[in-house]
Amino acid sequence: MTLTPTERIYVALDTPDTAKALELAKQLIGHVGGVKLGKEFFVANGPEGVRALAEVGMPVFLDLKFHDIPNTVAGAISSALPLSPSILNVHACGGSEMMRKARTALDEVSGEKPMLIAVTVLTSLGDDDLHELGVDKTAEDQVVHLASLAKSCGLDGIVCSPHEIKPIRAVCGPDFKLVVPGIRPTWAATGDQKRITTPADAIRDGADYLVIGRPITGADDPVAAAKRIADELGGL
Ligand code: C5P
Repeated sequence: MTLTPTERIYVALDTPDTAKALELAKQLIGHVGGVKLGKEFFVANGPEGVRALAEVGMPVFLDLKFHDIPNTVAGAISSALPLSPSILNVHACGGSEMMRKARTALDEVSGEKPMLIAVTVLTSLGDDDLHELGVDKTAEDQVVHLASLAKSCGLDGIVCSPHEIKPIRAVCGPDFKLVVPGIRPTWAATGDQKRITTPADAIRDGADYLVIGRPITGADDPVAAAKRIADELGGL
């Protein structure tokens, strides 16, 4: 299935304020493919908040990055399903049994299922941090290793930084879904993101979905910003 440029964009609504998130989502419907709600939103507003956002009518990536013993993660996945998210994620570092149980928790339910993806190494961690944690691989090697493990456990894809797209694609193949934050159009402020790529370069490199927050949510005109990004992806 070929995605339209708009469908590729998930806007990150990083706010604890439901009213603000709802206002942005209502404005952006038709101009982005979905919304990403993370811990900042979820801890403040819970499942009720997620349901309110889902009612706007856009796919919801529920970015809660589950990481616990296999039984607990499987339970968390089952508890999330009534919210009908389009994407759910777990930490690959939880191990293969945890990822397989998460997969099984989804497969046991009939009907439309969310995409189940893994987080590998947080982009806030570098080689030295991994060494401190007892991991002797470089961050990039560890990312590719965990992506490959996630694939072998039946996960649908991975969240990765723009710079990890090519090595993961090379190892995990064309059908593994790559969801990529750290995106900055040339005309947007960088903010605290360091390893960034433009939307067009990320798609050219092999990203499936782009997670974009402040370049859209912080723009004077969020709809115009989302349209401009979709236009930049139009010819690819
Ligand atoms: O505003 P900005 O475009 O930087 O937002 C990016 C979103 O993607 C945020 O929700 C952030 O938490 C998330 N993210 C990230 N880098 C990762 C994983 C997630 O920026 N490695």
